[in-house]
Amino acid sequence: MDLSITVNGIKFPNPFLLGSGPPGTNARVLAKSFDAGWGGAVAKTVSLESSKVVNVVPRYGKLRSRETNEVIGFQNIELISDRPIEVWLEEFRHVKKEYPDHVLIASIMEEYSKDRWQELTKMVQDTGVDAFELNFSCPHGMTERKMGSEMGEHPDLTQEVTSWVKEVSKIPVWAKMTPNITNIKEPSLAAVRGGADGISAINTILSVIGVNLDTLRPMPTVEGYTVPGGYSAQAVKPIALRMVSQLGLGLPKEVSISGIGGIESSRDAIEFMLLGASTVQICTGVMLQGVKMVDELQEGLAKFMTDKEFSSVQEIVGKSLPYFSTHMDLVGRMKEAKRHKAGEASRDNEWGKKDITEKTAELTSN
Ligand SMILES: Cc1cc2nc3c(=O)[nH]c(=O)nc-3n(C[C@H](O)[C@H](O)[C@H](O)COP(=O)(O)O)c2cc1C
Repeated sequence: MDLSITVNGIKFPNPFLLGSGPPGTNARVLAKSFDAGWGGAVAKTVSLESSKVVNVVPRYGKLRSRETNEVIGFQNIELISDRPIEVWLEEFRHVKKEYPDHVLIASIMEEYSKDRWQELTKMVQDTGVDAFELNFSCPHGMTERKMGSEMGEHPDLTQEVTSWVKEVSKIPVWAKMTPNITNIKEPSLAAVRGGADGISAINTILSVIGVNLDTLRPMPTVEGYTVPGGYSAQAVKPIALRMVSQLGLGLPKEVSISGIGGIESSRDAIEFMLLGASTVQICTGVMLQGVKMVDELQEGLAKFMTDKEFSSVQEIVGKSLPYFSTHMDLVGRMKEAKRHKAGEASRDNEWGKKDITEKTAELTSN
């Protein structure tokens, strides 16, 4: 079955993309994922000076189900890529040459400087990548340098930086949003005012995964200490779905949405699409299940389309959005349904089910 979809003029062989993070951290893993059948990938976020990026170990923490021990939540305190930009440029070129039909999206991040953002945009664009994702959303580490979610939390900065990139970009630009704000529509609409062609949502939710009761140290513990990190995996899905639905309802129609957060199966992915996402990204799911999970994603989507008689992936996008309403409207609909039920219950063929005197009393007003 044809699972392709065209978004911002780019044809995706299927809507399943690796989310920025370890699954897209170098050319080798990107190639493996394209061989496995992923439609595209957002590579790990790159910046001009990788020497400023120093990661810690351990940097992940899991939340497990009390009953089954299954991983339901995942926290990381990982930074953006620590690999030099020159190496990345070479690898972007190489991957695009080897896989011309797969979509390669470069995630970029810089400090608050027009020159730096534009220099990075031009360099990466020259490699032939298909689109940009602007990382306005990593919640830890980079904010100390006014990067990442420091920008996504301030709509004026989101708009300004997006417009810097759009000034020099000849390819589509998506802005990736942080969920650590009150109303995701505000920074998203600011990015759209800055010229963004699409919005990716969500990045991780600020979290503390737990405290070790032996050592009394919060986790993940690095030489006795920690910092709050970013929460992902299935536990964040309802929050991500809510935010994607707000974007689906609130963004101009021509702005695309890439849905992210806790997707681990075709069912999860389809839910995001029904609420307005035309592509979906998966990061932690791939870290826990491996790249082969794309088989189930493709099979599940194809089966859903056959069962529900959708003839293209595009038809699914936003299909469930009209069913969001207001509380007042729900109350009104309930009253209407009650009235309707009461009418049905008074039809002539209902007589005889109860004692005739009881039925007479039921239909009598005084
Ligand atoms: C270990 C790890 C590293 C990540 N690194 C990045 C990154 O470099 N850039 C970025 O935009 N998002 C990064 N993310 C966020 C993911 O792309 C994604 O937005 C988030 O984890 C929610 O999706 P998921 O539940 O499928 O993981 C990272 C996530 C994890 C778990």
